[in-house]
Amino acid sequence: MTEATPNDSAAAPELQTTAGKLADLKARYHEAVTASGEAAIAKQHAKGKMTARERIDTLLDPGSFVEYDEFVRHRTHAFGMEAKRPYGDAVVTGTGTVHGRQVAVFSQDFTIFGGSLGEVAGEKIIKMQELALKIGVPLIGILDSGGARIQEGVVALGKYGEIFRRNTAASGVIPQISIVMGPAAGGAVYSPALTDFVVMVDKSSHMFVTGPDVIKTVTGEEVGFEELGGALTHNKVSGVAHYLASDEADALDYVRTLLGFLPDNNLSDAPVYDSEVELEITDADRRLNTVIPDSPNQPYDMKQVIEGIVDHGDFLEVQPLFAPNIVIGFGRVEGRSVGIIANQPNAMAGTLNIDAGEKASRFVRFCDAFSIPILTLVDVPGYLPGTDQEWTGVIRRGAKLLYAYAEATVPLVTVITRKAYGGAYIVMGSKQLGADLNLAWPTAEIAVMGGQGAVNILYRGEIKRAEEAGEDVAAVRAKLASEYTYNVASPFLAAERGELDGVIEPAATRVSVVKALRSLRTKRASMPQKKHGNIPL
Ligand code: HXC
Repeated sequence: MTEATPNDSAAAPELQTTAGKLADLKARYHEAVTASGEAAIAKQHAKGKMTARERIDTLLDPGSFVEYDEFVRHRTHAFGMEAKRPYGDAVVTGTGTVHGRQVAVFSQDFTIFGGSLGEVAGEKIIKMQELALKIGVPLIGILDSGGARIQEGVVALGKYGEIFRRNTAASGVIPQISIVMGPAAGGAVYSPALTDFVVMVDKSSHMFVTGPDVIKTVTGEEVGFEELGGALTHNKVSGVAHYLASDEADALDYVRTLLGFLPDNNLSDAPVYDSEVELEITDADRRLNTVIPDSPNQPYDMKQVIEGIVDHGDFLEVQPLFAPNIVIGFGRVEGRSVGIIANQPNAMAGTLNIDAGEKASRFVRFCDAFSIPILTLVDVPGYLPGTDQEWTGVIRRGAKLLYAYAEATVPLVTVITRKAYGGAYIVMGSKQLGADLNLAWPTAEIAVMGGQGAVNILYRGEIKRAEEAGEDVAAVRAKLASEYTYNVASPFLAAERGELDGVIEPAATRVSVVKALRSLRTKRASMPQKKHGNIPL
């Protein structure tokens, strides 16, 4: 059969015959998949960007994509729009598989009307949202759009509203992942913001509610696109994004890996991978015995501990650049997904601040919604002090992490490696908030406050006396602090009272976690029936 193209009158199909109708279909399909034209595709490639279809092909397993609505066209007459009605409009949608598992996907096509969202592009996205929810599969949105289609006015705005409502309904039911691969401006940013994970590409993706021009007009502030809403800004400063991809292929690869840790929906389990674990302590496990430095002020990298526990040391970190004083991400234990939350002594001594609290609480809630057990590793000297934190709401915003842990019903295993002081001890997956198994290393220090702070209050008279007697005050302080740590902060005191379930050698951590998660697989816990809680936002 001759390859028919819509503008090739010599090949125009004879529509009265079946063969003619098939040729017509072929021609129309060809038109749909090439609607943007070579020049627009070349422009897209010149910016280092793939087309909407290339992105889908890279994300999904080869040959698995099933397209929906490739023949949809807009119905707008405003601004002479009827002269240009490309098939498919400005978004490509459909289903396919990632590592053999179904997902639904939409990919905005910047080469058509700048990927802008009008009535029918909105309807296509909404159809995918509803399909994903109905069949219970993750929804992946690839965003590259000039926002609401200016020519369509309120109709375009209304579609965003419908998309936001469905994002919200799907939250906690199916995983939703947004990959921002170009502009996402104005209210359009709120669809990714409502989803579980936002991936951005270095230098080529931008998100902002108001752009540089508006900012300059209204506030006089001068700022460029990159600084205002580039991928680095949202990964490091605002915490809007969860992964900074070096290029588009890296972004799509990260999402494929991430999906491997997630269940299809809130009623199914995350995939289980074959994994034979050693139930005796190994030489690799013994390396954990030397992680904690002798000096309590010396930092270490908590990721060593995480990698010493999860299968093959494979840890997929989420939001690594934002609030690095807390580490979150996914690993597997015995082939099963586990969400990990860990203080990071290497950054700000592992203190908790607003950013760390918000980062961790959203992650706890994600894991809880999707039945992924949580392993918490604790080394926290307390909350970051200061007026900045108090005035920006560390009380209200810090309460989120307490709330998230306290309402979590998934298996919760907590290991205190070193410091666990004050409110920060309670918030980091403590027994009292509902954790199932709480262990500590013998290096743990659990108390209302650290030795130095406690000595200043408890032994004020003693220190004054030493000063007046001309003694070495630093030495006196150090002795008192060390006595306090031994007598008050010892993990054995907590274990004696059952506040901890056990004190273990660091080398035994991996095996203990494996056994704990095995025993907790049948955990059933529930919160009182209610419409919804009122998490402090
Ligand atoms: C219609 C649009 C469009 C839009 C871009 N285009 N944005 N068409 N509606 N919103 C078209 C352009 O006219 C152009 O068409 C093509 O897409 C490519 O755009 P360029 O400007 O040539 O590309 P570039 O230089 O890369 O700039 C991209 C851009 C810029 C930064 C996104 O186009 C831009 O500023 N667009 C407007 C962004 C915006 O303010 N959107 C509204 C946000 S508010 P031709 O035919 O020339 O190729 C919003 C509200 C959501 O979205 C509300 C939710 C509640």
